[in-house]
Amino acid sequence: MAWKTLDDMDLDGKRVLTRVDINVPVENGEVTDATRIERVGPTVQDILSRGGKPVLLAHFGRPKGKVVPEMSLKMLVPAIEAAFGTKVHFATLDEAEVVIDACDAGQVVLLENTRFEPGEEKNDAELAKRYAALGDIYCNDAFSAAHRAHASTEALAHLLPACAGRLMQAELEALDAALGTPKRPVLAVVGGAKVSTKLELLGNLVEKVDLLVIGGGMANTFLAAKGIDVGKSLCEHEMAGTAKEIIAKAATAGCEILLPSDVVVAREFRENAPSETVPADACPADAMILDAGPDSVEAVKAAIDKAETLIWNGPLGAFEIAPFDAATNAAAAHAAAATAHGQLVSVAGGGDTVAALNKAGAAEDFTYISTAGGAFLEWMEGKVLPGVAALG
Ligand code: 3PG
Ligand code: MG
Repeated sequence: MAWKTLDDMDLDGKRVLTRVDINVPVENGEVTDATRIERVGPTVQDILSRGGKPVLLAHFGRPKGKVVPEMSLKMLVPAIEAAFGTKVHFATLDEAEVVIDACDAGQVVLLENTRFEPGEEKNDAELAKRYAALGDIYCNDAFSAAHRAHASTEALAHLLPACAGRLMQAELEALDAALGTPKRPVLAVVGGAKVSTKLELLGNLVEKVDLLVIGGGMANTFLAAKGIDVGKSLCEHEMAGTAKEIIAKAATAGCEILLPSDVVVAREFRENAPSETVPADACPADAMILDAGPDSVEAVKAAIDKAETLIWNGPLGAFEIAPFDAATNAAAAHAAAATAHGQLVSVAGGGDTVAALNKAGAAEDFTYISTAGGAFLEWMEGKVLPGVAALG
């Protein structure tokens, strides 16, 4: 690994500026899903147990350089104290020095929303210097914000001895196992509504994986590009040329693309809408494709059985509304079982994916589920993430 971890650092008596992503969902001031807070627990505990003082830097929402009281990190203090089992002192940047000095061993300091500072999103050197003056070591544990070159994720990393936190380390190791130096064959499952949002991702994947399953709305675009009438299905007809280019690139790279051979169609987009299964080239003109059919699911399962490594992003159908979650659920359950049996390394992440796998009850058995949305996608696109690069 090109980056240092907490293992490489002497933490005793050190103020450890720790960038975390605790951009959690909040309703009426209450945290509704504390996963992101819990996932940085190991880093905070490690720093505390080795005599360090964690000073947390984090953003919340998109206040765009202004103080927006509803986006103050102060509201997260109870949830963080509950998750870490320790006292958390809150401070604005102006108060930080005094609060950090006064904080006892075994306790944590949380600084106000980094995005209240106009310099944060500009990756401003002066702001990074102000942060750096508050710590002895920089630890980045925010993989899910690493696609942003901001003062607290990028510039700051160059000003202090820097390392990856435990969550960042786990993300990077899991991603490396999936696409960097994976066991082959590698299968990618990519779903979701639109080809246009995942163009670069598909272009990168066909050069790296052996088998690519395309599902969800974007599969319709590929079917249409092959001259198939997809009726009223969600479809980006203007992307036909791009879809063909991806198919050609895959052929050159020796990547097999698997599209649905049968589909579940309905006349309405709603829960339990009457539906039927038809061959993929037989969608009625007044119907829309809402899921992959059972034959397609068997093909995905066979691909999972062949694969040593699976990387998954995006649902295979309209997973939010039953019964159009069937293909996603069945494929996810099969991947989870293969992983549980030690036959598969499975990594998933990005936006809807975690929700879909949780809904399928499959997430627990996956080898690794990323907490990242946009950062996971950019990494799948083969991009260098500035927050990761700055640690190298
Ligand atoms: C996220 O929730 O995706 C991360 O915290 C990054 O947030 P952003 O998309 O506002 O940069
Ligand atoms: Mg985002």
